[in-house]
Amino acid sequence: MKGRVFSGARPTGRQHLGNYLGAIQNYVKLQADYDCIYCVVDIHALTTIEETGSIQGNIHEMVLDWLAAGIDPQRSIIFVQSQVPQVLELHALLSMVTPLSWLLRVPTFKEKARLQPQNVNYGLVGYPVLMTADIILYKADTVPVGEDQLPHLELAREIVRRFNSIFGPTFPEPKAYLTEAPLILGTDGQQKMSKSLNNHIELAANEAETRQRVMSMVTDPQRRYRTDPGRPEICNVDHLHRLFAAPAADEAARLCRVAGIGCVEHKAELARLLNAHLEPFRQRRAELAARPGLVKEVLGEGARRVSGVAQETLREVKERMGLL
Ligand code: AMP
Ligand code: TRP
Repeated sequence: MKGRVFSGARPTGRQHLGNYLGAIQNYVKLQADYDCIYCVVDIHALTTIEETGSIQGNIHEMVLDWLAAGIDPQRSIIFVQSQVPQVLELHALLSMVTPLSWLLRVPTFKEKARLQPQNVNYGLVGYPVLMTADIILYKADTVPVGEDQLPHLELAREIVRRFNSIFGPTFPEPKAYLTEAPLILGTDGQQKMSKSLNNHIELAANEAETRQRVMSMVTDPQRRYRTDPGRPEICNVDHLHRLFAAPAADEAARLCRVAGIGCVEHKAELARLLNAHLEPFRQRRAELAARPGLVKEVLGEGARRVSGVAQETLREVKERMGLL
């Protein structure tokens, strides 16, 4: 029997290179060998959003990116979290077997509490419990995510172990599945690429926007003049170049070390390469965007296809927990 993949992402709108290189690449790849379910987690988004008017538009843009990147709705399921409400019931039931102390020490919770002290809501604490419910409602065993999600996956495994030991073996322990580049830094060269930090490069940006973002990238801060030798090992331009064209990146790194190539030239080369690489994606995306109703249809069909499994798992959980 094929294994089952589940992953989710918050509806942040157009996807960026970090999403693509850290997660979406694997969503596409795993379709060949697994039954795959990909979820737009709109309820998770509510833990940080105060302005909810953008959610529907963001879902649309994000799903277009997923489809254009190669997620095939004939083979995989794409759906919106809130459209299959059994996950909320499972979340409530799992919260009864999850010690609060486990949740309060999750690093992402502490970080969010620091970033939004005016909005440390109850949902933020339960974030990893809801994520666990997402995954195990479908008894998924493999979860493609970026490195930032590893603490959540670890907690999911602990919750599953605890549930299984109290109520008997019910769920597989879900394992994270990483790409070769599970943490992509942003144009600042310091922090994780992320839309909220505005240090991102969108897949669907046009050529000029992409070039402008790449040209703004921060390189080796010690390299002040064109004649200074650079340190490619600490330079994000080198890292991204390497992911798209390893042999050419080796040559650029060799030249950088002896000041044979300047940062501006190197960035122009990366921008050219990215634009060439993303051109077919952008064309597919434009074609998909021109089909009215497509995204709604895919999401409606996805929710219909998963709801039987969701109901069955919930029934089993309630039985095990003595509710039936
Ligand atoms: P998010 O947009 O934060 O919901 O993330 C969606 C997926 O992309 C998750 O699997 C993240 O781990 C992954 N991801 C987001 N940003 C990055 C990044 N800068 N590098 C690698 N993976 C990322
Ligand atoms: N927490 C994930 C993120 O911020 C999104 C997510 C929700 C998820 N549920 C999931 C990822 C289940 C993998 C599996 O990106």
